[in-house]
Amino acid sequence: MCGIVGYTGHRQAYPVILKGLKRLEYRGYDSSGVALLKDGVLNVYKKKGKVAELEESMIGKNIDAQIGIGHTRWATHGEPSDRNAHPHSSKSGKIAMIHNGIIENYALIKQELVNKGYSFTSDTDTEVLLNFIEDIKNNNECSLEEAIRIALKRVTGAYCILVVEQDNPDTIIAARKGSPLVIGIGKGEHFLASDASPIIEYTKEVVYVNDYELAIVKPDELILKNIGNEKITPFITKLDMELAAIEKGGYDHFMLKEIFEQPSTIFDCLRGRLDSKESTIKMSGVDLNIEHIINANRIMIVACGTSWHAGLVAEYIIEELCRIPVEVEYASEFRYRNPIVNKGDLIIAISQSGETADTLVALEKAKEDGAFIFGVVNAVGSSIARISNAGAYTHAGPEIGVASTKAFTGQLAVLIMVALSIAKHKGTITDARFNELLVEMEQIPEKVDSILKNAEQLKVIAEKYKDASDFLFLGRGYNFPIALEGALKLKEISYIHAEGYPAAEMKHGPIALVDENLPVVFIATKDQYHEKIVSNMQEIKARKGKIISIITEGDKVSAELSNDCFAIPTADEIIAPLLTVIPLQLLSYYVGIAKGIDVDKPRNLAKSVTVE
Ligand code: AGP
Repeated sequence: MCGIVGYTGHRQAYPVILKGLKRLEYRGYDSSGVALLKDGVLNVYKKKGKVAELEESMIGKNIDAQIGIGHTRWATHGEPSDRNAHPHSSKSGKIAMIHNGIIENYALIKQELVNKGYSFTSDTDTEVLLNFIEDIKNNNECSLEEAIRIALKRVTGAYCILVVEQDNPDTIIAARKGSPLVIGIGKGEHFLASDASPIIEYTKEVVYVNDYELAIVKPDELILKNIGNEKITPFITKLDMELAAIEKGGYDHFMLKEIFEQPSTIFDCLRGRLDSKESTIKMSGVDLNIEHIINANRIMIVACGTSWHAGLVAEYIIEELCRIPVEVEYASEFRYRNPIVNKGDLIIAISQSGETADTLVALEKAKEDGAFIFGVVNAVGSSIARISNAGAYTHAGPEIGVASTKAFTGQLAVLIMVALSIAKHKGTITDARFNELLVEMEQIPEKVDSILKNAEQLKVIAEKYKDASDFLFLGRGYNFPIALEGALKLKEISYIHAEGYPAAEMKHGPIALVDENLPVVFIATKDQYHEKIVSNMQEIKARKGKIISIITEGDKVSAELSNDCFAIPTADEIIAPLLTVIPLQLLSYYVGIAKGIDVDKPRNLAKSVTVE
């Protein structure tokens, strides 16, 4: 997602826009830019990097203007760079536009424009949409507003656009579908933004623009229309939140916001890729490199931390579905132990930030040895994405909380789709099983949403056990890595010592730890291991351990053995990790809160570990 800001009124536009962009940097910070309109001259300034770098580059520039638009980018199409930064200018240079969203059919529209002789200076879908609008305006000899309306009826995907043109010196035209837009109502001025944080210091009267609506905004006039050109009476509401709360979308912390974003981020990850009706998975990174992938002598997965846990889940799934040997390596160990890497080996690199030094250096070495690198990354255009031969983005949007949550489930979703694609190409999965799993994957966002609706139950459990000095997390099979992930989340968010273990491993020593003070979290969902897990629970209960269990709805046996339990919807065991991790994320969050810890910035940690 990106951050957008617009202003038209009696103030100098640039300072309003710049401050607004800084407030929206949590939405993206790959690049930023402004377009300022004064006396029929449209000046566009943009720069790769954070808003502060744009600000520095603006020293000495002509910033005198009372109308302008600004953008801070989270890259989706086209890597972070000056040329891919917004605002984009049309071919004539008379129109500038910023955009938050994804135009899914941009490639088709781009081809039509190229056939008409258009050329493009960026790799973005935004520049295509902008020139599509100008082309319509020129060919139909219509107003910019009409051209925007015609164009938006043709595009598919999500958008929030702000458009300014030289011939309309005080007007911003805005439109939205699927990406947010708020308009602040001032005296002789209007403010536009992705959320209210850039607006609230100037006015608390706002209009939330709805999907398929256009706004024609002048200093002293706001006209709202639907895409059918019918006027709509703007509904003005009064902001009752403070600035800090608005940046977090009303949640107390970015971590909680990002946990609750997962139904939509998983949906975004699947969108345009997985289709159970067509019984297809389309991932260009896999499809265009399928020979490298299915003929790999072996697959090595290289990652750190939470991403390493995603790799462990992937190992179980790829070996089960694709019957290709998989090894999972800590990047920091892999890079120093002089591993044997041969040409034809496939390395899957998993990283939220795409900048983790241990992972990056491990990949550089493996690439030298001839391996094919497939990157599963969240940050578009990051170093790991760039060093990869191919890959698939998780599309989770910026993850601000230091503890990785939505990026992790995005990684799992991508890795499951990769495994299914490989199995389909190799013929190691039946059509029936393939489609059964596609249907289940499409149900995941809704099932995650149903889990989140019961979040308060985990808050009660967290407050009950927050003073424990140690925790154990136990799971089997696909849920063993989730036990590790649950332990890591608790450690990094609450500073309580926690260990994850394969449940069957307890009898080989760790069970000596069990007494009446030890909370033991079991991932005990209904799968092939369930009976064994129940036995493990009985072993713990016999030693007075306190059992907290994540169970499948209706599982009375596990519930009766537990001191506390949390039920989740049923799901095929291969994709159940997408669900079982959610209550563990919430548990760690609420324990951390109960202990008064700043869960977004836990001590000693950094969001991206770019040091070795
Ligand atoms: C996860 O909650 C941690 N913040 C940390 O383990 C993280 O997963 C690890 O540093 C890897 O980061 P990356 O995914 O950006 O490479």
